[in-house]
Amino acid sequence: ADLARQAAKAAMSLEQLQAAMGAFEHCELKKGARNLVFADGNPEARVMIIGEAPGRDEDREGRPFVGRAGQLLDRMLEAIDLSRESSVYITNVLPWRPPQNRDPRPEEIGMLKPFLERHVELVKPDVLVLMGNISCHAMLGKRGITRIRGKWDAALNLPTIPMFHPAYLLRQPQAKRQAWADLLELKAKLMGS
Ligand code: URA
Repeated sequence: ADLARQAAKAAMSLEQLQAAMGAFEHCELKKGARNLVFADGNPEARVMIIGEAPGRDEDREGRPFVGRAGQLLDRMLEAIDLSRESSVYITNVLPWRPPQNRDPRPEEIGMLKPFLERHVELVKPDVLVLMGNISCHAMLGKRGITRIRGKWDAALNLPTIPMFHPAYLLRQPQAKRQAWADLLELKAKLMGS
């Protein structure tokens, strides 16, 4: 994590951060991945979304949230008049796909976290959306998405809202009602500030 911290600190732009991550050779996940999945959307957007890690489709295309979960995410955003291209900026806790989509390991997250923190610093969003447990634990140190979802968290220096991960919503469609409430909460925050 020290090497990552040095490399992340030295990055003065998103382009430099992407290059620094691409040149980082200390994470085993990189060896098994086809592509670095850096980010998508608009770096000037007010909303930054952080997911978990690339899956098969994302690894192949080098873009976050392009598979089934990503299509659901696009529809969720559209439902509150946010477009993926212009109104949000999307990234993940991990830029490389874990083998067989296994859960990211704490040491992998810890090693790469300086890059994620720098990513948020460089984008400077007004609002942060954390999708799912892995993202909430990485950014806030909190678990229990069912309990913490939909409530604004002030632990970071910007308003942060945990939400269910769209991949979870695909498996548990009954949770979409709560996801809808959380989207409205996000929309209200954007309208009010
Ligand atoms: N799930 C994620 O958390 N991120 C992606 O990019 C795709 C699926």
